[in-house]
Amino acid sequence: MESVKVAIIYYSSTGNVHALARAAVEGAEKAGAEVRLRRVAELAPPSTIGGNPAWGQHLQDTANVTEASVDDLAWADAVLFGTPTRYGSPASQLRAFIDATAGLWREGKLADKVYSAFTASGTAHGGQESTLLALGNTFYHWGGIIVPPGYTDPIQFKLGNPYGTSHVAGDGPPDDVVLEAARFQARRVVDTAAALKAGRPAE
Ligand SMILES: Cc1cc2nc3c(=O)[nH]c(=O)nc-3n(C[C@H](O)[C@H](O)[C@H](O)COP(=O)(O)O)c2cc1C
Repeated sequence: MESVKVAIIYYSSTGNVHALARAAVEGAEKAGAEVRLRRVAELAPPSTIGGNPAWGQHLQDTANVTEASVDDLAWADAVLFGTPTRYGSPASQLRAFIDATAGLWREGKLADKVYSAFTASGTAHGGQESTLLALGNTFYHWGGIIVPPGYTDPIQFKLGNPYGTSHVAGDGPPDDVVLEAARFQARRVVDTAAALKAGRPAE
């Protein structure tokens, strides 16, 4: 069987979600998947970005990460989305990417894929779960197969968020626990997608 194709599509202003996305790449590749790491386009005006030096620096540092396109969704068997929490919701940059998928949705090409999501917030209880659940609303509309990490691995009892990997950026950069949780979440996504793929006739 050909390997599972995973798209890891994220938005990050200051690097925390990007670090989770990179850990997810490691987890997915270790699980045998073919992986595309993709960042969605930055849409914030220069005046906003300029107000936070870490934002501009991260934008510069990740200029070489390929920008996400809807073709990456069509290609993938499984998609992990990463976004900062913005007022308890996904970032508008990721929403703008998602809102460009109507053509694929109409053709039924977003259905039957595995979806999962991860996030970061500034504070604990700052809206991580509402952000992940909001992305879940979209996955329902797509007819997706939502694969949350739950408490299916010991790392999840350390992380404590069954909805998806989440990091409190106000406490510093992602530590070993959250990075391991992101790797685990990606592995679980790959394993589920592989089982589905094995049970389906080849196209
Ligand atoms: C406009 C805006 C809204 C935000 N809303 C929240 C929020 O609701 N809760 C919270 O804890 N942090 C909030 N934050 C902080 C971000 O979630 C945090 O900086 C982000 O997770 C860092 O991820 P990144 O480094 O990948 O950009 C907000 C930040 C901005 C700029």
